[in-house]
Amino acid sequence: MSLLELKDVTKRFGGLQAVGHMTFAVEKGEIFGLIGPNGAGKTTVFNVVNGYYPPTEGQILFKGERIDALKPYDISRRGLARTFQVVKPLARLTVLENVMVSAFSRTDHRDEARAMALEATAFSEMEAWRDRTAGSLPLGMRKRLELARALAMKPEILLLDENFAGLNPAEVEKTIAIVRKIHESGVTILIIEHNMRVIMSISQRIVCMCYGEKIAEGTPQEVANDPSVIEAYLGAAHA
Ligand SMILES: Nc1ncnc2c1ncn2[C@@H]1O[C@H](COP(=O)(O)OP(=O)(O)O)[C@@H](O)[C@H]1O
Ligand SMILES: [Mg+2]
Repeated sequence: MSLLELKDVTKRFGGLQAVGHMTFAVEKGEIFGLIGPNGAGKTTVFNVVNGYYPPTEGQILFKGERIDALKPYDISRRGLARTFQVVKPLARLTVLENVMVSAFSRTDHRDEARAMALEATAFSEMEAWRDRTAGSLPLGMRKRLELARALAMKPEILLLDENFAGLNPAEVEKTIAIVRKIHESGVTILIIEHNMRVIMSISQRIVCMCYGEKIAEGTPQEVANDPSVIEAYLGAAHA
């Protein structure tokens, strides 16, 4: 049984098909990449997987059970957490408080939530930033806070939406190290990323989307050499 499975998932917004007949399965323990040009439907895949939107058609299974009719809160409680491409922390709360808010999805006890938040901020190497207000963080640290907030939910699978965008080279290296550390701790990862060096080096398998549909699936090497991927995505990216 796959950890996360999409079966023929379609999401339409009015007349626009953002995701069409998407089928793929993420196995426990994988780092699975999702790539494609802007507007391809990648974030919408995350939005239907985490229950933000119901799919128009198709099924989503997590640990073999249908989750496509559940709300985000129920889905995160089952062990699926995500980060957001556009980061939106609670600006006037501190880093630690922001992470505690996430931890409250897993516990009703303040002390326990605090302990989980301390652990998640340590794991994402934000100890020195815990008492800063989220609104005062530089972009790199705001992205890091997103990771810590997702980790505090103790996920079995973590969905990362462009966590590397806008980071400087040192921050990219640091974030790669943290993502690997999360993976080594037993968390399965589904990652959307435009930085080809990052996605090619950390993913075991990749799906490439274009206009909402899957155009290729395979190892990083297979996908990078696929003519349709080069034409739809890599060629344009290199141009
Ligand atoms: N809530 C929404 N309402 C209408 N259109 C949407 C909505 N969310 C996404 N879209 C559209 O769906 C398409 C895919 O968007 P998105 O999933 O954000 O792509 P990506 O993350 O690959 O850049 C785009 O054309 C986008 O404008
Ligand atoms: Mg997106």
